[in-house]
Amino acid sequence: IAALGLTNCKQGGGDTIKVGEFASLTGKEATFGTSSHEGTLLAIEEINAAGGVLGKQLELLTEDNQSKAGESTNAVNKLISKDGVVAILGEVASSRSFEAAPVCRDNSIPMISPASTNPSVTEVGDFIFRACFTDPFQGAALANFATGELKATQVAMLTDVKSDYSKGLAKFFKEKFLANGGTLVTELDYNGGDKEFKAQLTTIKNSNPQAVFVPGYYTDVALIARQAKDLGLNVPLFGGDGWESNVLLDIGKEAMNGHYFSTHCAADQGTPKMTAFVESYKKRFNGKTPDAMAVLGYDSAMLLADAMKRAGTTEGPKLRDAIAATKDFEGVSGKFSLNENRDAVKALVFIKIEDGQFRYTATVNP
Ligand code: PHE
Repeated sequence: IAALGLTNCKQGGGDTIKVGEFASLTGKEATFGTSSHEGTLLAIEEINAAGGVLGKQLELLTEDNQSKAGESTNAVNKLISKDGVVAILGEVASSRSFEAAPVCRDNSIPMISPASTNPSVTEVGDFIFRACFTDPFQGAALANFATGELKATQVAMLTDVKSDYSKGLAKFFKEKFLANGGTLVTELDYNGGDKEFKAQLTTIKNSNPQAVFVPGYYTDVALIARQAKDLGLNVPLFGGDGWESNVLLDIGKEAMNGHYFSTHCAADQGTPKMTAFVESYKKRFNGKTPDAMAVLGYDSAMLLADAMKRAGTTEGPKLRDAIAATKDFEGVSGKFSLNENRDAVKALVFIKIEDGQFRYTATVNP
């Protein structure tokens, strides 16, 4: 059975190690879940091709939460109670990771979020980990980018009040930006999923900012950029990792040019591990270039497998201890260790959007 590999190994019944994944495969942030799932799947396939873990093949069970609030709790409950998974991988969006984390903690099942950056996610308990940096780091890097590279001390901010990620990143940005001597000339809100931003953008335009910070997710950001352009608000917009999706460019089109965001890594960053990963991902997924979520999905699954090998068991508390002990892990996104808060300590990158493309511009080390 083991030789048949993941896709042919349905009900493993003890012959496989079951790993659960919850992701936004459909709905408003569908590219987040699709990418992280593809990266995760590629890792599991590679691990199985190399002989699996602890003498068994890994079996990935994936649940779609449709990008909806409330669905992740159900998904993870099912994976743990009905399917009997030994660990959970997910999610990208912080609000959805935050929903699932208590379920994992209460069942003593380790959870690794590939990409949720809000600090409160891992604060849920010592079974909850992440393979990415957190927003106090990302927010500070964005503030330094504003006052440094952009030379913008008069900045407006537009926050998604429905998203823990957006609210957190706004707060951490603000702290550092004010400390750098900057002034927030306007601070306004929206609700993720809104279609009309003209009222907020008109107020922002009248406050004469040198740049506008938009710590949101890509579907909303693309509409914001288009409507800003329509209103003649011609200053750089900038944001964090939530911008990263090809759909940002599909919806935003030329309104995205000249704007910036920070994220975890870039396909064109030139490190040997990344270059090799881009090649194998393209081969596996019809020539598609991996985004940061795909890379982090891959890294989180590899980290889990590495910890299983070191633990010598998949038993919850021992697996947790092995994940917590992760040091100098060679991820595709970069080399990282987990700190005492179960967060990865690692670099971020800046991307500039030019000619309808994402271009890597700089790396910021922790
Ligand atoms: N960091 C975002 C969050 O916590 C999710 C995200 C990660 C988005 C990576 C894009 C890329 O909600």
